[in-house]
Amino acid sequence: MTSYKIALIPGDGIGGAMVSAAWSVLQKAAGAHGFGLEGTNFPWSCAFYKETGAMMPADGIETLRGFDAILLGAVGWPAEVPDSVSLHGLLLPIRKSFVQYANIRPHRLLAGVEGPLKATAFDILCIRENTEGEYSGAGGRIHQGTADEVAVETSIFTRKGVERILRFAFEQARSRRGKLASVTKSNAQKYSMVFWDDVTKKLSVEYPDVEVTSYHIDAMAARMVMAPETLDVVVASNLFGDILTDLGAAIQGGLGFAASANINPERNAPSMFEPVHGSAPDIAHLGIANPIATVWSGAMMFDHLGEKEAAAAVMKAIETVTASGVGTVPGKDRTDAITAALLAAL
Ligand code: NAD
Ligand code: IPM
Ligand code: MN
Repeated sequence: MTSYKIALIPGDGIGGAMVSAAWSVLQKAAGAHGFGLEGTNFPWSCAFYKETGAMMPADGIETLRGFDAILLGAVGWPAEVPDSVSLHGLLLPIRKSFVQYANIRPHRLLAGVEGPLKATAFDILCIRENTEGEYSGAGGRIHQGTADEVAVETSIFTRKGVERILRFAFEQARSRRGKLASVTKSNAQKYSMVFWDDVTKKLSVEYPDVEVTSYHIDAMAARMVMAPETLDVVVASNLFGDILTDLGAAIQGGLGFAASANINPERNAPSMFEPVHGSAPDIAHLGIANPIATVWSGAMMFDHLGEKEAAAAVMKAIETVTASGVGTVPGKDRTDAITAALLAAL
């Protein structure tokens, strides 16, 4: 029997409850589809940092390399550890070290979920560049704490990085409805963003079947609210994609529904699956966080592992549950009740 080795990183806040809920659903789906899941738990988190002085051990990345995939809850507990330390010590190094350059985030309304918009028939796939751009981490601060302080943070856009994410997005558009929206801010940022637009134009020649339109990020933010049904695949840089996907989560009913996959398309390192949301300190320990975003991310993991039927079964269970009115309104149903309904639906 095929069995997949999965690294589980619950992380902080609601992360633990979300991963354990998703894991029970994924285990059940795997069993029903004739494959196994062997989970190894890594307690890497802000609590781990407080104990050891690091978010993960020095060989953490090498330890993870041996797994077929990673399922992550959320990282960050800003009351105890600055986000700039915790995220740069765990989540962001995993994305970069394993060259998970394609961050895929679907935004559509699940059956029975009422979003805040009039528009209901939208199905957007955001493709976010996940390893460079505004998140490159190149910069510094000098004369810290004085009146002469200077802070510099440079975005880095490489031809390799921009070409590969755009190519990935063109391929996704080709396999869906054939429309690609490329998002920049080339009216204000005249080097990196004009470069991105140039690469988009150059590649578009290779994809004559894909209708590509360039948008500025500000106009795209408005379009996602006013006319989301006009969008198919949306591709953006690391920071722009980050912001647009919380907006995407909002129009699909909330962060409890937004799933995400950090993909290494070359498959020479593990990919990582996690919800779009964070550790939600405001509701941590209340038992009311929605596990659907993490379960959906798990379905994306099955899809990536080639277990298409199990992925479809998990998605069907999610929509059976939401169609019945469970888990559709933030805070209404408890995490355990939503998880039990998902297991029953499977
Ligand atoms: P957040 O996503 O944790 O929370 C934003 C809002 O959404 C909160 O009101 C929260 O209660 C709600 N929410 C989030 N997930 C939910 C769920 N499953 N069900 C119901 N409601 C949910 O964003 P934040 O408050 O800006 O960040 C909190 C911490 O998480 C910070 O440390 C931040 O850096 C970190 N963070 C981590 C990740 C990640 O690990 N991928 C992502 C985003 C934020
Ligand atoms: C996300 C998160 C992260 C990001 C943070 C926690 C660094 O917001 O996955 O969307 O910006 O990538
Ligand atoms: Mn985000």
